[in-house]
Amino acid sequence: MGTVAPLLEGRRIVVCAGSGGVGKTTTAAALAMGMAERGLKVAVVTIDPAKRLADSLGLEELGNEPRLVDPQRFSEHGVEIEGELWALMLDSKRTFDALIERLAPDPATAQEVLSNRIYQQLSNSVAGSQEFTAIAKLYELDQYGDYDLLVLDTPPSRNALDFLDAPGRLTRFFQGRAIHMFLRPAGIGGRILGRGTGVVFSIMERLTGVDLLHDLSVFFRALGGMVDGFTERARRVGLLLSDPGTTFLIVTAPRHDPVEEAIFFHRKLRDADMPFGGLVVNRLHRPPAGDGALPADLDEDLAKRVEAAAHELAALAERDAANVEHLRTTLGDPPTIVVPELDGDVHDVEGLALVRGHLFG
Ligand SMILES: Nc1ncnc2c1ncn2[C@@H]1O[C@H](COP(=O)(O)OP(=O)(O)OP(=O)(O)O)[C@@H](O)[C@H]1O
Ligand SMILES: [Mg+2]
Repeated sequence: MGTVAPLLEGRRIVVCAGSGGVGKTTTAAALAMGMAERGLKVAVVTIDPAKRLADSLGLEELGNEPRLVDPQRFSEHGVEIEGELWALMLDSKRTFDALIERLAPDPATAQEVLSNRIYQQLSNSVAGSQEFTAIAKLYELDQYGDYDLLVLDTPPSRNALDFLDAPGRLTRFFQGRAIHMFLRPAGIGGRILGRGTGVVFSIMERLTGVDLLHDLSVFFRALGGMVDGFTERARRVGLLLSDPGTTFLIVTAPRHDPVEEAIFFHRKLRDADMPFGGLVVNRLHRPPAGDGALPADLDEDLAKRVEAAAHELAALAERDAANVEHLRTTLGDPPTIVVPELDGDVHDVEGLALVRGHLFG
């Protein structure tokens, strides 16, 4: 079917979204490879790539900054990178820390937050979730990097929508009641932290040696000054995602569940006015080639097995085709790029080069 090239024409950001395990990371890396091959300076942000894929991109070390991939790695496999390919593995914790450093009014406040136990817990869980840090990183690269194209892989969330909603959730967190209670010197928060809670905290401190109350108040006071910065940042990230220079590709496998999720995700994109570019249907089974006739002298047992395998493949191909048909009709015939099921995992340059071949037609 189609090729991905026209969908990326003139874009600065491409987001590969979709449900878990469908091939988002593979697609993101192969897209980046293809566009770098076409002369662009591309950075791909990968999220938890398989170890071997990371190795083949030269990402042995977890660095939170893009690293230039040695073009030699590719030319050995017949892929000539005319531009530049930069790759990074997202490090959520470091991305979140960097954001604090950027938004803090001064280095001392930044240090106060970073060394705070509450922050450390928080940045490792809720607010430091990959959904949020992935786009925080994207924003940073867009603002402070000089790439022609950014390719963003998305986290393996069960719900692809978490990703779209990340800026909103962060804003709500900072505008939420909990934080205001702490920021307010007196009032309800003051009272709660007065008697009962104060006793609990001091018992805990005696037992654990951790002055939680102190940590909490330092955390919220220091962070309080950054609320506006965060809110503004979240707003701008939202704008970046809906910018016409951005495009979302929905990656899916031609199976029932991912197809339903793709339909759902597509609707959400539309509702949120995010620019949908097209579909990448990955791992499609093709019907067996040939006319099904087996060599006459084939061992009977073997012939039976070959026949059974061919039969099974034909059934898979039929099922896949029906799922793709259903998906495309529901979405109103969007641009669709098909990548077939390959033999074995895609974890080396050769595999990536094959996928990029299918993506770019
Ligand atoms: N076309 C293909 N043919 C065969 N194997 C493939 C193909 N595309 C991807 N794979 C393999 O499928 C697995 C999942 O791919 P990938 O990691 O890209 O998916 P993902 O959507 O990023 O998953 P997650 O949601 O867990 O992040 C990997 O082992 C990959 O090598
Ligand atoms: Mg992935």
